[in-house]
Amino acid sequence: MTGARTSGEPATQDPLATPEGVRRLVTAATAAPSVHNTQPWRFVLSRGTLELHADAPRRLPVIDPRGRSMTISCGAALLNVRLAMLTPGHRPDVRVLAGAAHDSTLLAEIRTGSRVTVPAAERRLYAAIRTCHGNRMPFAARRVPDDVWAALAAAALTEGAELWPVERHAVPELLDLVGRAERRLESDPAYEAELDRWTCERHPQLAVLMTRGDGPATWLRAGQALQRVLLTATDLGVATNLLTQPLDVGDMDRCAAVPRYDTGRRIQAIVRVGYGPRAPSTPRRPVSDVLETAPTDIRG
Ligand SMILES: Cc1cc2nc3c(=O)[nH]c(=O)nc-3n(C[C@H](O)[C@H](O)[C@H](O)COP(=O)(O)O)c2cc1C
Repeated sequence: MTGARTSGEPATQDPLATPEGVRRLVTAATAAPSVHNTQPWRFVLSRGTLELHADAPRRLPVIDPRGRSMTISCGAALLNVRLAMLTPGHRPDVRVLAGAAHDSTLLAEIRTGSRVTVPAAERRLYAAIRTCHGNRMPFAARRVPDDVWAALAAAALTEGAELWPVERHAVPELLDLVGRAERRLESDPAYEAELDRWTCERHPQLAVLMTRGDGPATWLRAGQALQRVLLTATDLGVATNLLTQPLDVGDMDRCAAVPRYDTGRRIQAIVRVGYGPRAPSTPRRPVSDVLETAPTDIRG
């Protein structure tokens, strides 16, 4: 990303009251991961409230018929906004509206809450936004240690989701599903080549992010959980990338290899974790493309 700063704003200033403050929040949002880098979010500043909308024309109709991946992507952006607001000491006051009204693009409203002391761990996650990128290179053979797995699982739980490692014996079945989904969707050959490159790892380490229930509000929550997992991994020096296509074409219903799938939970993302070279950054839409501001709204 081009500039999620860790300072630069007076700690007492309401971040939604100045152009710089709003820009800092939305800059952090735009760094979020999104399905095929579609960046399907839009922000509207209206009377001191920052609205998060899905940019519905950016939904991918074939691979994302229900808007699940689009909403997860927006959830990831929402977590970044929350961290950007929290870091200078303001509690983000978030009202979730995803799914509340049929045909509405409005997913959440964010207001500036009370002053709070910021935990050091949250500051580190905010700092990780800049370097958190999916890594599609093969990872080293080194295993992810238990304490790191525990930290990733705790990150998911903090946001109301669960992260379960996939046992080594079950990984081939899951990868087979991923490969079949890719072929069924006739995805981009370059993307398939990337997949082939890392699936030559001897023992890829995978985890599934799960939620109870399904639907827009759950997807928004899953996106925040996913992003907290990815930022935590980045902070701990662990590389990640996402594989979600089998979820969007429904094949996961047949994947008995996935832990706890038969207990009312839904899989929202498959995450590959490991140790690899630093991932290159990828382009993002500028803030001016994703933020609408009423001229009278900025008081700074
Ligand atoms: C909901 C969602 C689904 C994704 N699915 C995949 C996927 O199936 N395969 C993949 O390689 N990356 C996937 N990604 C990662 C995006 O491709 C990535 O976030 C985007 O290209 C931005 O690149 P970056 O990670 O370098 O910042 C997904 C991301 C999200 C949020």
